Amino acid sequence: PAPRLVDRHGRTISYLRISVTDRCDLRCRYCMAEQMTFLPKSAILSLEEIAVIAERFIARGITKIRLTGGEPLVRRDVGQLVTRLGRQIGAGLDELTMTTNGNALAQHAATMVAAGIRRINVSLDSLDPETFRYITRHGDVARVISGILAARDAGLAVKVNMVALKGLNDDQIAPMLDWCIAERLDLTLIETMPLGQIDEDRADRFVPLTAVFDDLAAHFPLQRDPHRSGGPARYWRVGDTATRLGLISPLTANFCDTCNRVRLTTEGVLYTCLGHDDHVDLKTILRQDGINGLDAALDAALASKPARHDFDIAAASPAVARHMSVTGG
Ligand code: GTP
Ligand code: 5AD
Ligand code: SF4
Repeated sequence: PAPRLVDRHGRTISYLRISVTDRCDLRCRYCMAEQMTFLPKSAILSLEEIAVIAERFIARGITKIRLTGGEPLVRRDVGQLVTRLGRQIGAGLDELTMTTNGNALAQHAATMVAAGIRRINVSLDSLDPETFRYITRHGDVARVISGILAARDAGLAVKVNMVALKGLNDDQIAPMLDWCIAERLDLTLIETMPLGQIDEDRADRFVPLTAVFDDLAAHFPLQRDPHRSGGPARYWRVGDTATRLGLISPLTANFCDTCNRVRLTTEGVLYTCLGHDDHVDLKTILRQDGINGLDAALDAALASKPARHDFDIAAASPAVARHMSVTGG
């Protein structure tokens, strides 16, 4: 078998995040500016090229693939990619999954289940229609909620992703946890990260999850749960409910020493850290040399994977100029 992907810090890479489009039908304020310039179709990988690269990663030991964006479900025919990658489940791949804004989930849930996806993460930063509309600029919370419930009823486990934002939704975290318990969903809280220029100052919205956690622990019976989902979250079980609470705290509890991830953009660029610009251009290599060129490029990429991000929420400009929607988180 081909050698595993191990970086120069000894970390084994087993999790590939693939951004299938930089586009999105929402404009979450912490993620994007209102006016965004998206890539032309000529600049992006075909679905076939994404699949070929993903399959090479699986041969090199990737066991978990997450499709992200932008919003993955706005890419035309994304269901074909889901179905094709689903064939690798059990043949190297342990988990195929997706992070979505939930807008188009109701239409896509059945294809995902048929492809072998067992769980998905859905961004939902508020249950309140006005707050949700404000944060996302274009979103309709009722539509996202019905997408979540349709996915759950189709057999997908759903984890809600909520970015904590001061003055916007930080008073709505306990109600969100109550709702997730009632609907038998998991909830992961996320600290806002400085990627790409947006229309406001992220420092003004930053909420440390350390404080949020202490508050929640006073009202909910939280027990540390050693469960790992393969991503950066740490988990707590909420009493005897079906709900797990996850925390993703890149600013207050760095998790880079156990990083197992790399990211493929829709342009075919492989980024080895969310918080740095180190990358290799797999698209050009694939188009020039075919799949045989990929292995050496992957090894070179891993040899330069940074030890950790240096996110500083107070910095005047973000450490990384590209938006989260380019690398898919
Ligand atoms: P699970 O498979 O459920 O563990 O999902 P996940 O947390 O890996 O994926 P998801 O797409 O739901 O991402 C949740 C948040 O974690 C997003 O805000 C991502 O940007 C963030 N995230 C994922 N990986 C990393 C990472 O390596 N570094 C940092 N700083 N954030 C990350
Ligand atoms: N900081 C933290 N999380 C972000 N997301 C998007 N932009 C940011 C940011 N700047 C989240 C989305 C989605 C996940 C993939 O990343 O809400 O749930
Ligand atoms: Fe779109 Fe997700 Fe960014 Fe919101 S966070 S604008 S849903 S990519």
